[in-house]
Amino acid sequence: MKAIRYTKYGSPDVIKVVNETTPEPKEGEYRIRIKATTVTPTDCAVRRAEPAITRLFAGLLRPRDIPGDSIAGVIDAIGEGVTEFAVGDEVYGTSAPKSGAHAEYICLSSESPIVRKPEQLSFDEAAGIGDGAITALPFLRDVAKLQAGQHILINGASGAIGTYAIQLSKNYGAKVTAVCSGKNVQMVKELGADEVVDYTKDDFTKAVSKYDVIFDAVGKSSFKKCKMALTSNGIYMTTVPNLSVMFSAMMTSIVKGKKATFAATGLRKGPEKKKDFLFFNEQIKLNQLKSIIDKTFDFDQFKEAHTYVDKGHKVGNVVIRL
Ligand SMILES: NC(=O)c1ccc[n+]([C@@H]2O[C@H](COP(=O)([O-])OP(=O)(O)OC[C@H]3O[C@@H](n4cnc5c(N)ncnc54)[C@H](OP(=O)(O)O)[C@@H]3O)[C@@H](O)[C@H]2O)c1
Repeated sequence: MKAIRYTKYGSPDVIKVVNETTPEPKEGEYRIRIKATTVTPTDCAVRRAEPAITRLFAGLLRPRDIPGDSIAGVIDAIGEGVTEFAVGDEVYGTSAPKSGAHAEYICLSSESPIVRKPEQLSFDEAAGIGDGAITALPFLRDVAKLQAGQHILINGASGAIGTYAIQLSKNYGAKVTAVCSGKNVQMVKELGADEVVDYTKDDFTKAVSKYDVIFDAVGKSSFKKCKMALTSNGIYMTTVPNLSVMFSAMMTSIVKGKKATFAATGLRKGPEKKKDFLFFNEQIKLNQLKSIIDKTFDFDQFKEAHTYVDKGHKVGNVVIRL
């Protein structure tokens, strides 16, 4: 099978398309022929080994494993004891925290967060859900405990996590302010944003006691800057933890009032994520959740896809179509 390997950490030039033995499913495993996957800022960060701590998971001197984790594809072989799926089933989900989705085939255990793909969802769209939506949901539902009528501000609303976060927040009955640049204002409104702040013109952090939740989906702000804009018991959440937010999270956890938080959603257990994908399936069937696809690339264009994602301005998802 064709797969992606990195020869070392660095620029997109380290990406190589290689030929490897196609894996065979063991007992309790199934094999998916991958039809679509995504390239994300996390894939790019692992490729660059930035922050350096990623080396602890990915390999000290050079990356060990085939990268990638979002998956949309077709079950093409079944190991002994697997009853949930049959050959030919169209499925999607994620392999995270394990990687290996940037390949033509992947074998996964039946514990993995993989579910049947609703018919109305294309493989490209499903691959996006396996990244941005599965990240946004636990922040909104479990960390913020977002309630109907609350006001949430989503920074980076035009990105993969942001575009799903707008829709999920609206589905929870919240009022949504989306922060993006002028070119994406119309798109975020169409996804349901009630108010929009163009970050190239206005600074949302100048607001006073306005938001119950500030979700920085792209990690471009800080708790310190956002504090004034939060209501008295408001929560600041970021997808990109750094020492400053970790310190704020620790300090605010022991006092009443405004909180700073972060989460590493990819590390959640398979069955937990699987329930979330089934929840997404319900929303997709009701037309309440859709994927925004910025660009699609072929398997031989991983380098181009990484170069594009590295720029930090993709709109929704960048998909690799196999
Ligand atoms: N904690 C976790 O569990 C977890 C899980 C997955 C991913 N992540 C991290 O989450 C982050 C976001 O991922 P993503 O895929 O959603 O990112 P993304 O799609 O690459 O975000 C790009 C979007 O962000 C917007 N943007 C860039 N700078 C901005 C700014 N200063 N203010 C507001 N918007 C800005 C861009 O709009 P313009 O073109 O208008 O600038 C663009 O549409 C990544 O760093 C990723 O590593 C964390």
